[in-house]
Amino acid sequence: MAIKIALTKGRVEEQVVPLLEASGIDCSGIRNKGRRLIFDEDPVYETILVKGPDVLTYLNNGSVHLGIVGSDILEEQNNTQYAMLDLGVGRCRFVLASTSQFDPQQVRRKIIATKYPNITKRYFQSIGEDVEIIRIEGSVELAPLIGLADAIVDITETGTTLRENNLHVYAELQPVSTKLVVNRLAVKQYQTEIRTLISNLKNAQTKLGVNA
Ligand code: PRP
Repeated sequence: MAIKIALTKGRVEEQVVPLLEASGIDCSGIRNKGRRLIFDEDPVYETILVKGPDVLTYLNNGSVHLGIVGSDILEEQNNTQYAMLDLGVGRCRFVLASTSQFDPQQVRRKIIATKYPNITKRYFQSIGEDVEIIRIEGSVELAPLIGLADAIVDITETGTTLRENNLHVYAELQPVSTKLVVNRLAVKQYQTEIRTLISNLKNAQTKLGVNA
């Protein structure tokens, strides 16, 4: 039976595939995926492509043995305990951002738009501020531009989206990177295979010059 991996599609997928390949896993199917979602080219690992927030759903349910997902999602879902290895890719950071008109000292209760309400709540609690949080699903940068919110909490990698929308960083929150997460039963069932994979991934990191 193959070991099943739920891989976060998109940015994480792009950055993780070279690492998986350098670990000896056949990713030719993922590289030429079209609209396919299941990849069984490799004799040992079967990979499925899913949205980040769904990785732990598949993992907790036992449908997959391993997951590859950003720490932003794990922290938002309060599920950091499953992380076995920091893959060192998909590095970005959480920021508080807004237009140049934003006043971080404003007296009125702030409205913050985000895809990460739990992380946002924890951040403002940590600085002793009570804010209203509006959850949105994507293109969060729009919110302060069209008057939905005073500011946003979001992840930024290259800074391009902020820059191209004339948004500024007002506070740096925690850094983000991609993690390998493991189903607890799978750790016991596939101890040797998972240990080998982790060791191969660490060697691949060294080979590709990725700092974990
Ligand atoms: C994330 C984030 C920003 C963007 C930042 O969105 O929400 O919009 O990436 O990246 P940058 O600093 O390199 O420009 P994502 O691409 O995951 O898409 P989404 O807005 O659909 O969630």
